[in-house]
This record gives sequence, C-alpha cells and structure tokens, in this order.
Amino acid sequence: MKACFVFRLFLLSFGVNALSLNANPNSEPAANASCPLVSLDARTNIWAKYNLHPNAFRRHQVLAAAAVISDDLLNKQARKIADVGSFYWLDNTTNMQKVEEILPEVPCANIVGLVLQGIQDRNCTREGFSVPDHERYQRSYGDPLATLIRAYPRTAFAIIIEPGTLPAIINNPNVSSCQALAKSYRQNVAYALNALKLPNAITYIDAGHGGSLGRDVLLQPAAEELAAVYKAAAYPSQLRGIAVNIGGWNSWDARPGEFETPYEEPASKRNRAHNEKIFSQLLGRALDKLGVPSNAIVDTSRNGVIGLRYEWEDWCNVDGAGFGVRPSVVPGLGEQHADAFVWAKAGGVSDGTSDPSSVTFDPFCGRRDAFSPSPEAGEWNQAYFEMLLRNARPVIAVDT
Ligand SMILES: *[C@@H]1O[C@H](CO)[C@@H](O)[C@H](O)[C@H]1NC(C)=O
Ligand SMILES: *[C@@H]1O[C@H](CO)[C@@H](O)[C@H](O)[C@H]1NC(C)=O
Ligand SMILES: *[C@@H]1O[C@H](CO)[C@@H](O)[C@H](O)[C@H]1NC(C)=O
Ligand SMILES: *[C@@H]1O[C@H](CO)[C@@H](O)[C@H](O)[C@H]1NC(C)=O
Repeated sequence: MKACFVFRLFLLSFGVNALSLNANPNSEPAANASCPLVSLDARTNIWAKYNLHPNAFRRHQVLAAAAVISDDLLNKQARKIADVGSFYWLDNTTNMQKVEEILPEVPCANIVGLVLQGIQDRNCTREGFSVPDHERYQRSYGDPLATLIRAYPRTAFAIIIEPGTLPAIINNPNVSSCQALAKSYRQNVAYALNALKLPNAITYIDAGHGGSLGRDVLLQPAAEELAAVYKAAAYPSQLRGIAVNIGGWNSWDARPGEFETPYEEPASKRNRAHNEKIFSQLLGRALDKLGVPSNAIVDTSRNGVIGLRYEWEDWCNVDGAGFGVRPSVVPGLGEQHADAFVWAKAGGVSDGTSDPSSVTFDPFCGRRDAFSPSPEAGEWNQAYFEMLLRNARPVIAVDT
C-alpha cells in the first residue's frame, strides 16, 4: 500500500495521471472488498439508505483540534464532530490527487460526499476575471474524477457540482465576462454530469441559496439555465437535483425568515425564499415544469444560529455561528423537494482572511459581522471551530 503510494508520487512528478493506474477494471484497488457492487437509483432518495461518510481527512483535522481543547465538555463535543459525515472539496488539483486515500476504509452503508469545484474563478464581475479553460477542466477534474469513481464500484458517491457559479451568472446576465462564464459553465457542468453518469454516483448541481437566487425575477432564469445544462449533458440518469445553501448560513425553515421584507417592495427585488425550505420548493417547482430533476440537499453545517448577518449577501466567516442539524434525511419525505441535510462545508476552515493588507483580502471578510482574526481561505481557525461547537444547535450531546 505504502509502496504503491510512493510509486504514484513518482509517476506524478513526471506528470502521469496517478488515477490511470486504477483504470483497469480487472484490478480493483484496495476498496472495501466486503461491500457489494453499488447501484444508486436517482429516482429515489438514496439518503434513506446511506449515511454521509466521515472522511479521514476531516476526522484528523477535528481530532487535532480537539487535542488542544482543555475544557472537558468542549473537548468531548469536539471529538463527537469527528464522527459526523461531511463532504470533501475537490477545489484544486492537490485535493483531486489526495482523495483516493480516504476510499479504502469506507463502510458499505456510507456514501462518500465530494464537492467538485473545478471552476475556480467565479467572480465574473471582478476586474481581471479569467474564463475557465474547458480542456483543463476536463483533464484535471472531469476525467480523473470519473476514472476514480469507476475504479471503486463498491463505494457510493454523492457529488455536488460547481458551487457558486450559477448565482454569478444569473445575477449578471448583461455583463459580457459573465456571459462568457455562462458559456463555459454550461460546457463544463454538462461534461461533468455526463462523465459522472455512473451507477455508484449520484449528482446534485449547486443552485445557490434563497438570498442569491430566490428573487421572483431570478427563479425562472436559474431554472432555465439548469435545464440547458441538463439538456447539454443529454439528460443524465444519475442527476438527482440541486444542492442549496452550500457553504451558506440560511435557516432551513425559520418563520419569519431572517431577511423577510415587505411584499410591496419593488417587484425586481421581491423575494419569497426567506428560508431554504421555501427556496427549494420554489426552484423545485420551476424545475419540475421544465422536466429537470429537482430534489435538493441542504448544507446545514454552519446554520445553527441565525440572525447574525447585517445583509443577506454577507458570506464570510459569520461571527456567532454554530454547527447546525447533523446530516440526516429531511423529515416529512415527499412533502417537499428535499432529500437530506448534509454538512458540505468543513466548519472551522476559514472562508477568507480578515487582514486588509493581504493580497487575497475580500472586503466581505472585514465586515463587522465577520469573525476576526481569520486566516487565509482554506486554513484552520481554531477559535472559530470552538465557537461553532459552543453555539451548535441542536446542542452536541455527550456522555458525562
Ligand atoms: C468495510 O465495510 C465494513 C462493513 O460496512 C465495515 O465494518 C469496515 O469498517 C469497512 N472498512 C474496512 C477497511 O474494511
Ligand atoms: C467579487 O469581486 C468584487 C470586486 O472585486 C468583490 O467586491 C466581491 O466581494 C467579490 N465577491 C465574492 C463573492 O467574492
Ligand atoms: C439585460 O438587458 C436586457 C435587454 O437590454 C434588459 O431588458 C434587462 O433588464 C437587463 N437585465 C439586467 C439584470 O440588467
Ligand atoms: C488545495 O486546497 C487545500 C485545502 O483544501 C490546501 O491545503 C492546499 O494547499 C491547496 N493546494 C493548492 C496547490 O492550492
């Protein structure tokens, strides 16, 4: 196993795709051989059968954080989080190459959650925005991910596709760089959906959240864009629907909603999607009319406390946040367009630095409702993690 890994690193240094080693279907890699072959039916809620896998990377991250917590209760709560399933982000090529390390130990009843985010530059209104290169997307993300999933036919996968891009496109239809992003998005997402049309994978396309796509004037264009991608991918059988609130802060069902506004406001701003339950229903119905799979998974990793943001668009390291509902099937199955609550975001990992002198500084991370100090995006923030633990709703129960 170790030798194999070293050999792979050796190949990598010469630019050979490590995953091609596993491409031969006759030599299955070290998957959990005791599990049967997986066949996921995208017409059903697969979360009724599978639990989100607590992957080893996240487990190590959380256990390392727990090791430096001296408070007895908080320490026990932290260790509980190590057992909570969460998604692993394929948002750079390093992570793409590392993901295989978590696969050999997956129990048969678990499903591995992956977030595919090969479109790194999504902020098309920013000066210097560059349109993603399709050939690179295919070579670095689409193809290796499909090869990996094919090499592990005894492991189930749930994949969230391209968070953050759809809202940028739909909110800026007349900006030429956003039109270029839209074209690229359609091509890349269609490619991914088609490549991932595999019996042991189920896919959800990211659809923003109530604040970014819930306005009356945006719901239909968003649904039409998703329909265009679905068509461009030739109606892939493994698409189950949409992923909402990914990395977000919105409540599932709070009434009144956190940003509920008077109905008389200008029609262009009118938004009935005050919570993610309403949002997934409104967008789900628009998708149903267009014949697009419309079931949602909802990120509840950091939405335990609401009412913390000054504005709906505040997205960075929200201060006072807590872990939300643990991954589970949405109650009242069939009543709404929602399959499951999942933890997509790894709570404790920073969204961006609070240091205004950093070249990567985004003003949203310096707002009054953003936690400070916060390290660079992707880095661990111990204080933030401990805050999420303390503020978790439901409270994290431990044996005392
Ligand atoms: C394999 O699957 C079984 C059954 O789900 C599980 O008990 C075990 O921990 C898994 N991992 C390995 C390495 O066998
Ligand atoms: C997009 O870029 C603009 C301009 O640089 C910036 O103000 C904004 O915060 C960025 N949005 C996100 C979501 O990063
Ligand atoms: C985009 O341009 C069209 C045609 O000029 C116009 O009708 C529409 O209101 C514009 N949309 C936005 C969001 O500015
Ligand atoms: C990829 O992302 C991870 C965090 O998810 C980070 O630790 C790593 O440094 C990144 N690698 C590159 C090459 O950007």
